[in-house]
Amino acid sequence: MSFYVTTPIYYVNGEPHLGHAYSTIAADILARHHRQRGEDVFFLTGTDEHGEPVAQQAEAEGVTPRELGDRLAPRFKEMAAKINASNDFFIRTTDEGHMKRVQEIVQRVYDNGHVYEGMYEGWYCPRCADFKTESELGPNNTCPIHQIPLTREKQKNWFFKLSSFQPALERLYEERPDFVVPDFRRNEALSFIKQGLQDVSLSRPTLKWGVPVPWDTDQVIYVWFDALLNYYTALGYGIEGEDVTEKFWPPFHILAKDILKFHAVYWPAFLMAADIELPKRMFIHGFLLMGGHKMSKSLGNVLDPDEVIAKFGADALRFYCFREVSFGQDGQISPAGFESRYETELADQYGNLANRVLSMIGRYRDGVVPEGDAEAGLAGDLEGAPDRVRALLDDAELTQALEEIWKLVRRLNQYVEETKPWELSKDDAAADRLDSVLYGLAEGLRVTTLLLHAYMPETTGRLLKALQADGASFDNAGFGSRPGGQQIGALEPLFPKR
Ligand code: MSP
Repeated sequence: MSFYVTTPIYYVNGEPHLGHAYSTIAADILARHHRQRGEDVFFLTGTDEHGEPVAQQAEAEGVTPRELGDRLAPRFKEMAAKINASNDFFIRTTDEGHMKRVQEIVQRVYDNGHVYEGMYEGWYCPRCADFKTESELGPNNTCPIHQIPLTREKQKNWFFKLSSFQPALERLYEERPDFVVPDFRRNEALSFIKQGLQDVSLSRPTLKWGVPVPWDTDQVIYVWFDALLNYYTALGYGIEGEDVTEKFWPPFHILAKDILKFHAVYWPAFLMAADIELPKRMFIHGFLLMGGHKMSKSLGNVLDPDEVIAKFGADALRFYCFREVSFGQDGQISPAGFESRYETELADQYGNLANRVLSMIGRYRDGVVPEGDAEAGLAGDLEGAPDRVRALLDDAELTQALEEIWKLVRRLNQYVEETKPWELSKDDAAADRLDSVLYGLAEGLRVTTLLLHAYMPETTGRLLKALQADGASFDNAGFGSRPGGQQIGALEPLFPKR
């Protein structure tokens, strides 16, 4: 089994912020989860370095686009490392390997007869690198996403015959209802298609910063086709000396709603034109909002992941994003929100559970997990959880899966309150019961922690080690699958109070 997951590649026109980190964390959780299942995983992220969004920013800063990319791409790379992303490769669209393969595929699309030369006139947003249709215009011809004036542009360029793919796209959406999820995004994409598709520019005549069109080198390939193709090109050169396209293609894409049209409409059409198999699926998530607005560089309402990590740690950030905001929907985040989830859920619920279970085993059983069977009531509540989590994560339902896991955390805390091990410990006749209570708690904590591992790799790694449960394979997540007898190791508080 193989699993290939991608994030959007981010424009190098500003510092990375929490919005970018969000998509990368989502993809990382899926990558780690599939690795836990023993699958061969390829996880790709990177930077989009061509086109107007980057060229314009470079001009504003008085540097070349390449200098800007060389300064900012490492910042995105560092961000990925800081949030503990386990990406197998970091692509830059300025990589020679990428550019070469983009030219090959665009040439193939041309040879297959899907490209012609023509004239285009319309309202253009340089930050989106996109022409807007009449229905997409904001008030006074502004961009509804960036809230900046659009420019009227008239260009002679090469066109991709998107319109000719309308029937094939409609069929695709019909035959594969989960090609785009969640459903309401699928419907949005489908209604865009059904409104009637217009051909789209494949090249830019006026811009010099990009991949040259192979048959007309005065023009560069439109940045969106260059960028989308990263998902395909990376497999060709991302692993030194090996082409892993066969092994990993097709991908599972993670992206936000702002770039739905490019991924859900242009991309499958372009792949069909190039005779390449379509993606497995794409999950479209919402926006992290601050003060009611999309967190974005142009609006200036951004949270720096470095600051959040310095204060709460990468795991807490990873947890918070998917706990606070239902993955797929827009949601408000705030420093105060972080603080409160950190205290109540991570420190008081999970951290405290770990601490209580370990210290009770230390106190009452000399630090050795008792052998014995867990009580039936507890076992019943924990047994089905791994299957439910697995099924939800197959659909990239990161928030729902996390809630399934959190039910276990709550259940285990409640079990401690119900069984009161500190009272059982005073009663010699209750020794067997105490054994089975402590075994059940250790086992429940182990299973819960294994399930949380993809979300919070660092802290759960420490706890698994203390539980002598090395190796985070999902196959080990069955409650009661491990007998007792382990010597518990030391554990520093997982989520110390700030
Ligand atoms: N370069 C293109 C994508 C090309 S993919 C072939 C681009 N780059 S971007 O830098 O603008 O990144 C957009 C993506 O960043 C969004 O689709 C989303 O994944 C992520 N996010 C940026 N801000 C975000 C929020 N405020 N909230 C959630 N995700 C956000 O578009």
